[in-house]
Amino acid sequence: MKPDVKLTAAITAMGGYVPDYKLTNTELETLVDTNDEWIKTRTGIEERRVLKDPSKATSDLAIAAINEIIRKKNLDPTEIECIICCTMTPDMQLTVTAAYIAMQIGAVNAWGYDFTAACCGFIYGLTTAATYIESGRYKKILVIGVDNMTRFVDYKDRGTCIIFGDGAGAALVEPNYEGLGVIDSYFRTDGTGRKLMHQKAGGSLKPASHSTVDAREHYAFMDGRGVFKSAVNNMADSVLKVMERNNLTKEDIAWVVPHQANMRIIEAVGEQIGISLDKMMINIQRYGNTIAGTLPICLWEWEPRLKKGDNIMLVAFGGGFTWGASWIKWAYDGSDFLNGKHI
Ligand code: UT7
Repeated sequence: MKPDVKLTAAITAMGGYVPDYKLTNTELETLVDTNDEWIKTRTGIEERRVLKDPSKATSDLAIAAINEIIRKKNLDPTEIECIICCTMTPDMQLTVTAAYIAMQIGAVNAWGYDFTAACCGFIYGLTTAATYIESGRYKKILVIGVDNMTRFVDYKDRGTCIIFGDGAGAALVEPNYEGLGVIDSYFRTDGTGRKLMHQKAGGSLKPASHSTVDAREHYAFMDGRGVFKSAVNNMADSVLKVMERNNLTKEDIAWVVPHQANMRIIEAVGEQIGISLDKMMINIQRYGNTIAGTLPICLWEWEPRLKKGDNIMLVAFGGGFTWGASWIKWAYDGSDFLNGKHI
């Protein structure tokens, strides 16, 4: 480490993957009592991606996203030291998806773990990775936000099945000596929120059984209206706190990356923090809510437009409840990858 220079941790490449199959609002009309107009007006979602192949799962989405980084950065997988797989939908219970991912990509020197923080998985995981890098002990960490949520969605419950989709975004996190990368984060949790969003059976509190399956308790339960209100206030509050304590004005912010749960939540947050929608990354219309995937999928899609030094505010709210915001100073011109320039 260079002695007089502050060591920070920065994203140095993004990868992403969404499955090919598009579940449209029109197809949902054939499954539950809903309609395109209601879904678009109440959520902003037009279609979401679904992993159809029953032999594939969360790890496959993650690996596809990581492979893009390996390709773009010409990265030797044996140099990867740690893999943080942020997900609520691991391939299997009682085993670690990150370990399987490491084996599949040839990251034979990596340790890793699954990180469950619902829709906040990626920002919590990114800050955790940043702390490892800032300690000086690590130089290459992969943080993946990934969920195969449609496997846990009840396509008889119109209140939840319209929202969720599958997808993955991956970030390579490396040391930075220019003051760029993860600068500040404000995170909170509130355990009272678990009654509003959970899977009733399948955990240690209520293991799965014939009767829980008959009662459809192995699917996601959500009191959408209750979650909505907490999401708006806490997402806006987190952004404002990070801005205030770092003397950031709204003019300083190049992009806000909000969790993509509902277009109305994004609009309400934008209004409360005073930032217009054209400065917010929004792709909910195409992918719906991919849980831990939403933030890194946005960064992946916007990467070609991002410039070195851009102030980016990531903000999320999810099950638990978990919520928070992270301010990052972007560390590279994303267009460099298009020009074939390895960074
Ligand atoms: O990412 C994790 C965190 N999750 C979230 O942040 C999700 C937050 N919540 C939401 O996005 C919204 O609450 C939903 C999109 C889930 C639901 O929208 P809403 O505007 O809150 O609807 P609601 O649950 O208050 O229901 C309003 C009405 C109800 O009918 P009545 O009782 O007023 O007659 C529902 O039965 O809309 C009905 N409804 C639907 N109608 C057509 C609920 N879902 C549907 C549907 N199609 N899919």
